[in-house]
Amino acid sequence: MVQRNKNFAKLQAGYLFPEINRRKNEFMANNPQADIISLGIGNTTEPLQPSVVKALKDAADSMATVEGYTGYGDEQGMTALREKIAEKMYSGGLVDADEVFVSDGAKCDTGRLQMLFGEDVTIAVQDPSYPVYVDSSVIMGQTGEYNKHNDQFDNIVYMKCTAENGFFPTLEKADIIYFCSPNNPTGAVATKEQLTQLVNFAKQNGSIIIFDAAYAEFISDPDLPKSIYEIEGAKEVAIEVCSFSKPFGYTGVRLGWTIVPKALKFDDGSSVHGDWNRIMTTIFNGASNIIQTATINVLNDQGMAEMRELVDYYMENARIIKSALDEYGFTTYGGKNAPYIWVKIESMDSWQAFSYILDNAHIVTTPGAGFGPAGEGYVRFSAFGHRDNVIEATKRMAKLKI
Ligand SMILES: Cc1ncc(COP(=O)(O)O)c(C=O)c1O
Repeated sequence: MVQRNKNFAKLQAGYLFPEINRRKNEFMANNPQADIISLGIGNTTEPLQPSVVKALKDAADSMATVEGYTGYGDEQGMTALREKIAEKMYSGGLVDADEVFVSDGAKCDTGRLQMLFGEDVTIAVQDPSYPVYVDSSVIMGQTGEYNKHNDQFDNIVYMKCTAENGFFPTLEKADIIYFCSPNNPTGAVATKEQLTQLVNFAKQNGSIIIFDAAYAEFISDPDLPKSIYEIEGAKEVAIEVCSFSKPFGYTGVRLGWTIVPKALKFDDGSSVHGDWNRIMTTIFNGASNIIQTATINVLNDQGMAEMRELVDYYMENARIIKSALDEYGFTTYGGKNAPYIWVKIESMDSWQAFSYILDNAHIVTTPGAGFGPAGEGYVRFSAFGHRDNVIEATKRMAKLKI
């Protein structure tokens, strides 16, 4: 018999969203008449925009011809797509095309990034945070055991982000610092000054930042940075992961990218870019060529305008949810430059609040504690949903007394 990877025994229960689905399905089995509205997992709901659909069809048609057919491509992504991403998703030459590695999504890259560092590094996360950072670190063997008394793993630095510190943590030393802005789950967006502090901290301590910018396109305030590379010196200390999932509705289509700057080095002077290239060429075989070709043809003025319409649609949902919750007396955060509303719960813990909201309003949310110990006392509402469902949900929220 083969020995199990001992790190799996350290992981807690299921991954958060399957666990929420399990509880939702259990509720549905017991309440078959209930009309459930899901504002839980941040899953997109609106159809692909016209230029995406056309480009996908064209790319598929091209594959039906001898001249247009392609098989394996470059693992790093099509050159034209890398160039388009550098041009359209980053203003003013912030990144070079050969620093862009195209992938099947930010979650997959976040998992693969762990291979760059192996098991001997320490990581720091914002607490609460997107669960993949902690769980992939556990699987890689970077952590000790889970402690029930504080809901933390040994050897992970949890940097608390709460209303009291404006959701920007006291920065703490670690080899790798995960930082997500706009933040999932709190909806907080770091300012230029805060990101400058983060970059300077990483420089002083010899850390590498993994900056998750999956929600960058939801920022409408021109003073808020969309990329860590807007901060001077960031290319020497930061990797950025990003995604087409939320702004372009590609959650099921699958396409993302990671920026690994050539200026980023390990302590022995070796190139992080070189090692990432080695990982991608070894264990990744490129994102779908149909999706890549289509996206090259979507990254133009028309496609970007349609993307903005989609983002605006979800952000109008966020406004509707937030203003309803505010009106009913809840204390809410986020929801302005991010598609998540983070709601303070005073009278019960966050899993109890999740069940209470499901039982009484038939709305699925996400319990804050699922994102880390400092998420206790909050629930997250996602703005990804059909407008009529969002409006119906806001009516039902009037009944909630928590
Ligand atoms: C912070 C954050 N990063 C990454 C992802 C995953 O992105 P992708 O669909 O590109 O894997 C998500 C998805 O919810 C997310 O919330």
